[in-house]
Amino acid sequence: MTSQHDDQVTFFEAVGGEETFTRLVRRFYEGVAADPVLRPMYPEADLGPAEERLRLFLMQYWGGPHTYSERRGHPRLRMRHFPYRIGAEERDRWLAHMRAAVDDLALPPRLEQPLWEYLVHAAHSMVNVPQDARPPAVNRVVTVTDRSRGDDDEGETISISLS
Ligand code: HEM
Repeated sequence: MTSQHDDQVTFFEAVGGEETFTRLVRRFYEGVAADPVLRPMYPEADLGPAEERLRLFLMQYWGGPHTYSERRGHPRLRMRHFPYRIGAEERDRWLAHMRAAVDDLALPPRLEQPLWEYLVHAAHSMVNVPQDARPPAVNRVVTVTDRSRGDDDEGETISISLS
């Protein structure tokens, strides 16, 4: 049964607080460190400070302490990413390392799902290469009607699953 107290627990607390975000971001940056496309994008030789910024941002976003904004001001994340070319490849690599990191947390689905959906959406919103600004192909079904055969029927409906 859900008590009133449970309703007031933030997502940050529900997933295990700071320790969980520390594990998530550490695992994610292990992937970035070994990634030949993403690693050269990071201006600093030491990935530690970037890891700390992402960790503090995610903690704040999910209801934890506001240390990120105290140190960095308003997130303005899309603007802060403008100096970097983020196309579909960069987004999908970022998400692949994040997926591995989320998997490692082994959260219950009711917590994992909103976290993952947020990350997919946020990563896509960072894309700044116009021709790549299509949503990622996650569980997307496209229906097209083929009228190219020139006959009199209604055409053939084809469903293509892009998941
Ligand atoms: C889509 C692929 C992405 C790429 C390739 C990417 C790459 C980068 C790079 C190169 C930096 C500069 C390193 C630094 O100074 O911290 C950065 C900073 C940052 N990124 Fe991303 N990023 C991506 C998506 C995201 C997403 C989805 C989020 C949030 C959910 C995020 C949060 C941050 C934060 C908080 C910073 C530090 C901003 C600051 O305070 O200066 N990034 N990112």
